[in-house]
Amino acid sequence: MNTIPEQLLAFIEKSPDCFHAVAAMKEELAANGFKELKENEKWQVTRGGRYFVTRNESALIAFTIPEQDMRGMRILATHSDSPSFKIKENPEMEAEGHYIKLNVEKYGGMLCAPWFDRPLSVAGRVVVKDEEKGGMRSVLVNLDRDLVMIPSLAIHMNREVNDGYKYNAQKDMLPLYGDIQAKGTFMKQVAEAAGVKEEEILGHDLFLYNRQKGCIWGAEGEFISSSRLDDLQCAFASLKGLLAGEKKEYMAMHCVFDNEETGSETKQGAASTFLYDTLVRVHDCLDYSREDYLIHLADSFMVSADNGHAVHPNYGDKADPVNRPYMNGGIVLKFNAAQRYCTDGVSAAMFRDICRQAGVPVQTFVNRSDIAGGSTLGNISNTKVALNTADIGLAQLAMHSPYETAGVKDTEYLVKAAAALFA
Ligand code: CO
Repeated sequence: MNTIPEQLLAFIEKSPDCFHAVAAMKEELAANGFKELKENEKWQVTRGGRYFVTRNESALIAFTIPEQDMRGMRILATHSDSPSFKIKENPEMEAEGHYIKLNVEKYGGMLCAPWFDRPLSVAGRVVVKDEEKGGMRSVLVNLDRDLVMIPSLAIHMNREVNDGYKYNAQKDMLPLYGDIQAKGTFMKQVAEAAGVKEEEILGHDLFLYNRQKGCIWGAEGEFISSSRLDDLQCAFASLKGLLAGEKKEYMAMHCVFDNEETGSETKQGAASTFLYDTLVRVHDCLDYSREDYLIHLADSFMVSADNGHAVHPNYGDKADPVNRPYMNGGIVLKFNAAQRYCTDGVSAAMFRDICRQAGVPVQTFVNRSDIAGGSTLGNISNTKVALNTADIGLAQLAMHSPYETAGVKDTEYLVKAAAALFA
């Protein structure tokens, strides 16, 4: 049996984009006896059952229903997407009569520099007409080879580049795909990898991804690096926690939303009705009243898990002077007075209590008072389904690089905390 860090790297390797991440989770859930529910079909949900439902194939909610009358829900929310470059419509561009490059646009707020000079590939989904059932059918696709590269401009042609550079997404970030002979072949290759004909493809959602495989490194193998640790490290740990142990009093919910990196305001994002709709349907199926639902919500607890910043060895001054999380130091509980992180005194106490029971260390993160931080899932989801929520994450470096670094021990801490939350 592989160790937890090795399992995490295998999961990320299977998940070059949000669609493949959801497919990988579906596979694991089905193998563990979870039954798939479809949003466009009637649900039959019974006590003691285990289910999952997806939206847009890029968001997923998996849940278990207790045998006995439930007291409420225990929810762990993460996200499936990561910053990348999305392939635009009509992607091929000719340059100099000698090259074919791809037209891409930014998805999310990435560090641009580390995308240069490394082999990249393309993955996502294509949509074709379903000739048997009518409607549309989507097919996951991963070109799965060193396919494109964004070459740097030589130092000789911009001597000032090391003094800081402002990257222009339309000029600097377009990947080279082939020489002029490659003209007209990109979508053909996509179609071939998807097992469909090029002319059948009516729509696509395709992204670049880093080909460099994850690794475990450092003097004692204490670090783990890979693309998409934010937020697949948390999504993976949440899923493992859901699959562990018995759930007696609370409905356990593993929620993975899409589009966190672009603000969550989509039908499959944390600002959508996906969680609300799922909760209402389950309550209806179990013959609970509207008031029962509201009582359950008041007795529920949500943990919003999205990776956080470890103190950087070269930039210690960027962190709060007192609250200084480090990799391998345990789960990071995040605080913000403006409630961009929704941890408050009550939810902090609830989360610390769960971690204490699980024997998991907790560290704290607060932005420096003169640096505005990011935001995440919890406060956005709370505007649709309001319940006690704590924001947490695992400490990492190089957030939003296509190759991020975290602690080798921390995934397991979150697996244990998730299992305790759901139990
Ligand atoms: Co994130």
